[in-house]
Amino acid sequence: MSYIEVEYPADKAGFYKTLREQLALYTEGESDFIAVLANAASVLKLAFKEANWAGFYLVSGDAPESGLKLGPFQGKPAVQRIGFGLGVCGTALKRGESIVVEEVECFEGHIACDCNTHSEIVIPMRDGDKIIGVLDMDSITPAYFDDADREELEKLLPMLLRPPM
Ligand code: SME
Repeated sequence: MSYIEVEYPADKAGFYKTLREQLALYTEGESDFIAVLANAASVLKLAFKEANWAGFYLVSGDAPESGLKLGPFQGKPAVQRIGFGLGVCGTALKRGESIVVEEVECFEGHIACDCNTHSEIVIPMRDGDKIIGVLDMDSITPAYFDDADREELEKLLPMLLRPPM
């Protein structure tokens, strides 16, 4: 398999249609969750041109309170463990909801992995009612992600789930 570069439409509807197709293309037929997340991180990083980091943190134990451990990602090396309720990722995990941060310096407790990062989006990943991890993306551009991205990414994440988790 070799990667063929794809043009992403500028409009959100077209962008997310292409993103969904690309994720399907590079994950379909694979049953291993980590392998799927690894290609998904790559597809996401390529799709969001101004993202400097795209990847996943996975719940490290049976319960969300056990915190997050680093999963497949694309970008600079990052913090490997994030406690429940800490940083943007741990806060999204604790709240059980997505967080869109327009300027990370304004988010109290934000964990900086790359000093060039300005904005961030974190989307919890659910298997049924249970949060099993989060998608995290960072950008060098302030307010790069918006509420429409949050909505689209929430709809898109279930296609990456693979049993058994
Ligand atoms: N900024 C995140 C930490 C992970 S890095 O962005 C990759 C946070 O505050 O949880």
